[in-house]
Amino acid sequence: MIAGRRIVLGVSGSIAAFKGVALASQLVKAGASVDVVMTPSARRFIAPLSFRAITGRPVLTELWDEESSDAIGHVALGRAADLIVIAPATAATIARLAHGMADDALGATVLASSAPLLIAPAMEPHMWAAAATVENVTILRRRGAIVMEPGEGRLASGQIGRGRLPEPEEIVDAIAREFEREQDLMGRHVVVTAGGTREAIDPVRFIGNRSSGKMGVAVAEQARRRGARVTLIHGPLQVALPAGVEAVAVESTREMEEAIHSAVRTASALVMAAAPADFRPSAIAGQKIKRRASVTLDLVPNPDILARLADWRGIKVGFAAETDDVIENARAKVTAKRVDLIVANDVSEEGSGFGTDTNRVTFVFPDGRVESRPLQTKSAVADDILDLIVGLLALKEVVQPSST
Ligand code: CTP
Repeated sequence: MIAGRRIVLGVSGSIAAFKGVALASQLVKAGASVDVVMTPSARRFIAPLSFRAITGRPVLTELWDEESSDAIGHVALGRAADLIVIAPATAATIARLAHGMADDALGATVLASSAPLLIAPAMEPHMWAAAATVENVTILRRRGAIVMEPGEGRLASGQIGRGRLPEPEEIVDAIAREFEREQDLMGRHVVVTAGGTREAIDPVRFIGNRSSGKMGVAVAEQARRRGARVTLIHGPLQVALPAGVEAVAVESTREMEEAIHSAVRTASALVMAAAPADFRPSAIAGQKIKRRASVTLDLVPNPDILARLADWRGIKVGFAAETDDVIENARAKVTAKRVDLIVANDVSEEGSGFGTDTNRVTFVFPDGRVESRPLQTKSAVADDILDLIVGLLALKEVVQPSST
């Protein structure tokens, strides 16, 4: 729902700036309150008055606006926004945002805001394809911004290629989708696990694994953004904890299992992105083991947390990090662990797996269905998983109305 939302529309200097006016008009008609922020070069293409006339609100054009006392400052604007959309976004604006430049009103507004950011690029095809732009877009997407694909066709300059600003209707649709997603886990409790566990050998050493926690943190972050109450049960992480989630730090697999058991009581879904150690030393040495010719560790198996939750009625999502026979192994895990979905990935493939910001995953369902996804950021993978969970929860309510 766009009605009642506060949207900041950033306009940068492109011949397509006039389409920004059409976009502002459609958003106002849909019931949003729209604050426009223009870069200095946008003003060479279009007058701030055009936006003011349509939105009925002051237009922010300067970082230090001494003349218009009715303009709200960039910090307040950024903070109050439910969403920031930049249309058109030039290559220069994309570069400035990717690098956190805050020396104009638009850069400062975006930097001061934690609202979702939607970017609708418009530029010459060779600028869109330039290595610098490709990297800047990757940086923004990795941070969670939605960067739309520009359209293909004839540009104002006469060039033909990819670089046209998406049509205002498409941008309005993308905004509406973003708001819908934001709402769809409202009132739900989602438990997410992230990172590897550590099994103590002696007071200073442990058995661990390469899990960075990025995938689980991305799921927790997106679930929170979509309105869920999130409990994030995690081992040591190589990334910062997301804001607004209940974080429970654990060390060993058995500690993780205990924390999960108590958290899932009120939850509708569990996403097991953690890599719990499968084995632990049968005994933990009380003192540091001294250097000697050889040391033998006797390992005993840890509980399979997911498999032991077979009777829990919420939606269960497991991961399968594999190095070979990915689909076959994932299918075996769907059955053995009795989960609703296995997110499988080949960790030996470039761009996938431990420590990366991207993942190419395949969804494997209990009925044998397999769905391959392209290489995406972990945030985008997280959103895909959450879309499936939302669908499964809705289905469950139809089939068993009192089961959640
Ligand atoms: N998992 C779990 N408890 C464990 C180990 C793993 O619940 N002790 C979960 C993981 O969080 C993941 C899924 O099970 O969601 C699959 O993990 P994976 O390590 O691939 O599976 P294993 O059963 O340990 O199989 P493998 O022999 O391939 O290691």
